[in-house]
Amino acid sequence: MPMKGIILAGGRATRLYPVTKVTSKQLLPIYNKPMIYYPLSTLMEAGIRDILIISTPHDLPLIEELLGSGENLGINLMYKEQINPNGLAEAFIIAEEFIGTSPCSLILGDNLFFGSGNFKKTIKQAADIKNGAEIFAYKVDKPESYGVVEFDDSYEVLSIEEKPTYPKSNHAVTGLYFYDNDVIEIAKSIAPSDRGELEITDVNSCYLEQKKLYVSLLGTGTAWLDTGTHDSLIEASSFVRTIENRQGTPIGSPEAIAFENKWIDHNSISELLESYAYDNSYRELLLKILNN
Ligand code: DAU
Repeated sequence: MPMKGIILAGGRATRLYPVTKVTSKQLLPIYNKPMIYYPLSTLMEAGIRDILIISTPHDLPLIEELLGSGENLGINLMYKEQINPNGLAEAFIIAEEFIGTSPCSLILGDNLFFGSGNFKKTIKQAADIKNGAEIFAYKVDKPESYGVVEFDDSYEVLSIEEKPTYPKSNHAVTGLYFYDNDVIEIAKSIAPSDRGELEITDVNSCYLEQKKLYVSLLGTGTAWLDTGTHDSLIEASSFVRTIENRQGTPIGSPEAIAFENKWIDHNSISELLESYAYDNSYRELLLKILNN
């Protein structure tokens, strides 16, 4: 059964006030695209076509207005509200009906991944998982702001802790997760943490206890960027701008990936581009891949 995908794009984003006072963080621009285009692209790169977007009652209609049914990208997009930010693991409870009996992945709407062929291969393989869970670790300077994985000398996972005061390693858990269908029952079985949230780290710890958790290390060839602060938003934007201008190829572009995956043909992407203004530089970038 093909893997389904969830983009969790709710939350209050109070760290970005006043920018996010009336709009969703995941709709803020990262250079030339709304932030949510990037996690959407990552799921599409993994080969996932059935995607549920979860957000707040306020923001969900805006996201739906932006992305629609997904038909023009050759994918199927659905939408569901999260009334209160009760934690990342609540996504699997909200999505129970959507997931059905399939395996399911989750990506956080504010997580940006950029990687070459190796990264794409890794996430495609993860999307084929039949049993257990696969998550990704990335070496960071300040691990205390994240879930942190502890490994032994042979890179067996010893523990995962959420935002530990004294991190046992520099390996942060990224916001991209692949699970078998047990994730629904596991999410239902965990209790809220001290901060009142259903923690994804507790879901991962359950898989670890059952010896069914695989942690892949993302190497330096992959970039995993944060978008939690005003500074990191600018940094992410300038990263995308630098790479796109230098290489002349779009990154985090659902249109480009749909075309590369052959989910839409030349005519459909041309039609899609007709709806963008002629003097729009994102459209020009996409036209380049069409013409190559
Ligand atoms: O970014 C990776 C990190 O994401 C992991 O290392 C941590 O283990 C994981 O807990 C999470 O930590 P954050 O502190 O970054 O999570 P945050 O509360 O900021 O939420 C991440 C995104 O999910 C954000 O865009 C808001 C959204 N969200 C959050 C919650 C708690 C929701 O849509 N609903 C929620 O209930």
